[in-house]
Amino acid sequence: MRIPVIAGNWKMNKTIEEGKSFIREIQPAIEGTDVEVMLFVPFTLLAPLKEYAAGSNILIGAQNIHQASSGAFTGEVSCEMLKEIGVETTLIGHSERRQFFGETDETVNLKLKKALEAGFRAVVCVGENLEEREARREKQVVGDQIQRAFAGVAAGELEGVIIAYEPVWAIGTGKTAGSDQANEMIAFIRDRIKVLYGETVSEEMRILYGGSIKPENIEELMDMEDIDGGLVGGASLKADSFIQLVNF
Ligand code: PGA
Repeated sequence: MRIPVIAGNWKMNKTIEEGKSFIREIQPAIEGTDVEVMLFVPFTLLAPLKEYAAGSNILIGAQNIHQASSGAFTGEVSCEMLKEIGVETTLIGHSERRQFFGETDETVNLKLKKALEAGFRAVVCVGENLEEREARREKQVVGDQIQRAFAGVAAGELEGVIIAYEPVWAIGTGKTAGSDQANEMIAFIRDRIKVLYGETVSEEMRILYGGSIKPENIEELMDMEDIDGGLVGGASLKADSFIQLVNF
């Protein structure tokens, strides 16, 4: 059985105090949940929130890592630096990183390899944009993203890896992919993983949907056979909606 995941991506939002108050509010409401709860927060919040959430079932993760351990990479943060503050979970290749910060399938692959070498858990993001969807190229695009992201990664390394399918046209737009549409793409991704790694790995791999998830659509999405959870932006910023998502 694949344990469901609800992961919040705060993007460039919240101060340390706001983050603490969010955790204070959600903690009692999600205490007994069977869902794995993750929060991807800005770098300045990582250490304080990691400490603040200690002993809870909330996993604090970074939104990005660099593929090198150290060096002349102004503005970047390495896995080793994150480990020092006890953070060993990261997002990789979010579409905003690809769109605004020049990340490519190749850097996603390098980052994934680095994360695994460092013993991190990673949520690898893939998804087509509107133009690609309108040209009916979404499967080609996402299939290629998967193939390239996982190039040179062995089956035995995948235990801590989660994939998030986030169609770019559904992120922050209020436009969710229909649950059937999302499930179809996630089933397609699972099939690609099967081709690359075999049935057992593909059946165990957790694959999330992301893009305008909110309390009103979470149940329908989670009812779908292949959708194992959600990566949530906007609706993860308010404690009450995040609680509803975790307790879907
Ligand atoms: P959204 O963002 O839920 O605000 O659409 C999702 C994401 O970017 O991970």
